[in-house]
Amino acid sequence: MTPMDSYTPEIRLPAPRTTGITSVEEAIAARRSVRVFSDQPLTLEVLSQLLWSLQGMTGKRFRTVPSAGATYPLQIIAAVGTFGITNLAAGCYLYLSEPHTLRAFKSGDLRTQLAKASLGQQAISTAPLNLVIAADYERTRSRYRNRTERYVHMEAGHAAQNLYLQAAALGLGTAAIGAFDDTGMKDILSVPGDFRHLYIIPVGVPAKTIF
Ligand SMILES: Cc1cc2nc3c(=O)[nH]c(=O)nc-3n(C[C@H](O)[C@H](O)[C@H](O)COP(=O)(O)O)c2cc1C
Repeated sequence: MTPMDSYTPEIRLPAPRTTGITSVEEAIAARRSVRVFSDQPLTLEVLSQLLWSLQGMTGKRFRTVPSAGATYPLQIIAAVGTFGITNLAAGCYLYLSEPHTLRAFKSGDLRTQLAKASLGQQAISTAPLNLVIAADYERTRSRYRNRTERYVHMEAGHAAQNLYLQAAALGLGTAAIGAFDDTGMKDILSVPGDFRHLYIIPVGVPAKTIF
């Protein structure tokens, strides 16, 4: 990965909540793809909750999302825009599930570049936060060989749906974006190995209420 300009320690996230005021049924009913956001920043607490829904721990070994053989190939990158998250600098951060921390690996607001790699999709350039689901296929391949692709993509779907529902429960909007240029994404968020970006998911306060 591209290192930050200067050494940055890992950032501890607030503990995620495991209770809420919206039922699963209400979140499912409210879920919709939202592509137009207000310029309201999100909080670190909200970022923590969203990341936890994608790949957080729910025990010593297991996570919020199922994984074939618990091989956990998914990696989550938070691309934070300028003033996107209160008290967090614009840049790209890797989410580490077990300590529930962020590791900064690239500084600056990359939304314009990300949108450009995604056929100019404006939801990406205007959202305060973009969450990228990427996968290290080797983790699953060593165990499942020719079923690897199928399993990894199923897992990305599980994670994205968790995020959709968590966002809906928090009154936020999100849209799973699969249309982007793979090479362009590698140039922007380069990660070594057999690593692919699968989804870019902008998140923000909807410009119009979705309820
Ligand atoms: C695999 C996949 C790829 C998608 N890619 C995009 C995309 O590139 N851009 C976008 O705006 N929405 C994208 N979507 C969201 C769909 O357009 C959206 O789910 C669909 O229109 C149904 O609307 P709903 O999610 O509000 O129910 C994608 C959804 C899936 C499942």
